[in-house]
Amino acid sequence: MTLKSNKSRSFKKINFKEKFSKFSEHWQPKVVANLNDYEIKLVKLKDDFIWHHHEETDEAFIVLKGEIHIEFEDHTISLGEGEMLVVPKGVRHKPYADQEAHVMLIEPKDVRNTGNIEDDFTAPNNKWV
Ligand code: NI
Repeated sequence: MTLKSNKSRSFKKINFKEKFSKFSEHWQPKVVANLNDYEIKLVKLKDDFIWHHHEETDEAFIVLKGEIHIEFEDHTISLGEGEMLVVPKGVRHKPYADQEAHVMLIEPKDVRNTGNIEDDFTAPNNKWV
């Protein structure tokens, strides 16, 4: 059996601390596993992201370290370590973090991180760590 396919890569214990030690850039999600047609990604957040929405999918934010804030049209939700939020599809949001935070994202494959927007914050998909 080859260990080169993504499926085989997923079938291994994953240590978040070790994965987060392997990259430093912000707002650039890295895939650590596939779950059927979904991806589990890790991302470091700091400062402001951009306003966007995802036409086709909900998006789960799970905070593993630090604190993040997700702004919506009429309110902001703050998430601390051990907290999560599912942003429903179609809902405009703008995440930000005052200090660097470590976050897990769960969403379908090939979701653009900036949703309906393409700009400098748009990160390449299918980057594994
Ligand atoms: Ni989003």
